[in-house]
Amino acid sequence: MPPRRAFLLGEGVAHSLSPVMHTAAFAACGIDARYASWEVRREELDQAVARLRRDDCLGANITMPHKRAVVDRADVCSVAVRRCGAGNLLVNRQGRLHLDNTDVLALRTAFTRRARHLARGPVAVLGAGGAAAAVLEALRELDTPAVWVLARRPSAAARLVERDRGRLGGRPTVLPLAAAADGRLRDCALVVNATPLGMASDDPSPVPAEHLHPGLLVYDLVYRPGGPTPLQRAAAARGCGVCDGLSHLLEQAGPTFAALTGHPPPRDVMRRALAAAAGRDPVEWGADEAPAAAGSAATG
Ligand SMILES: NC(=O)c1ccc[n+]([C@@H]2O[C@H](COP(=O)([O-])OP(=O)(O)OC[C@H]3O[C@@H](n4cnc5c(N)ncnc54)[C@H](OP(=O)(O)O)[C@@H]3O)[C@@H](O)[C@H]2O)c1
Repeated sequence: MPPRRAFLLGEGVAHSLSPVMHTAAFAACGIDARYASWEVRREELDQAVARLRRDDCLGANITMPHKRAVVDRADVCSVAVRRCGAGNLLVNRQGRLHLDNTDVLALRTAFTRRARHLARGPVAVLGAGGAAAAVLEALRELDTPAVWVLARRPSAAARLVERDRGRLGGRPTVLPLAAAADGRLRDCALVVNATPLGMASDDPSPVPAEHLHPGLLVYDLVYRPGGPTPLQRAAAARGCGVCDGLSHLLEQAGPTFAALTGHPPPRDVMRRALAAAAGRDPVEWGADEAPAAAGSAATG
């Protein structure tokens, strides 16, 4: 029997690091399968989705610009997909395509590790696209005093927030992206960059360095071949806890691998393959420190 196939399907996917992670994971687990990038234009999407239903196909990661378009083409959508209106993983289960959103799973894992920290101040989400929708979904059950969505087109942010009902702590507030530079982030517990700012070598940081402070966590979804983004550099230099786009890529690849193969993801193997291909380690923040045990100071 020929090897089974899995894909990353989107536009501009040639340089993605997903294939090296999944190829290493298949090999480590003795799974006879291949994972490859597949350049698919909008007008080719129906044909590509039909290909995914074939017996030899495990499924596919979906990236820009198809994350919303696949929702109407899937047979089953997860709750996260229905709430975000976007998905990034199609799994072939006997010809039926199940759509999930592993960006939400990865973000939720990272945020939950720092849940107590996030209760201390507002969360600022920069951007109003698919990744920002995943961030709002991942924050839904967390206790945060406020969530702000900062976008260059407030109308897009307003549409995003409009569908964000049933949130613990109430509906997010929409602000212009320029508010990231007016000093109000000093009260925030977390800033998430869900814009592409940082992908191009001459992009500025979406948050000026002087507005970053040591009590702030920064989650920057962007990764680029040339090294950390200006936001990641500035945040590290100012003593913030940083989670970078490589770390996000690794974190979402775990549930992807598990869903495609039914096998627990070999995380260390995937991390090593990613770091070797990227030329640097993913950067992630640690967990909240455990609260001091009652009476421990007196008994010490
Ligand atoms: N590390 C990972 O595994 C991972 C996973 C998911 C996403 N990402 C990254 O996250 C970023 C956002 O992805 P997405 O799917 O949300 O994209 P998207 O749906 O296209 O949304 C992008 C958002 O950023 C805004 N934006 C675009 N260019 C901007 C600029 N120059 N200045 C300010 N705002 C700008 C857009 O505003 P307009 O609507 O006005 O254009 C939109 O609100 C991308 O860089 C993507 O590569 C990384």
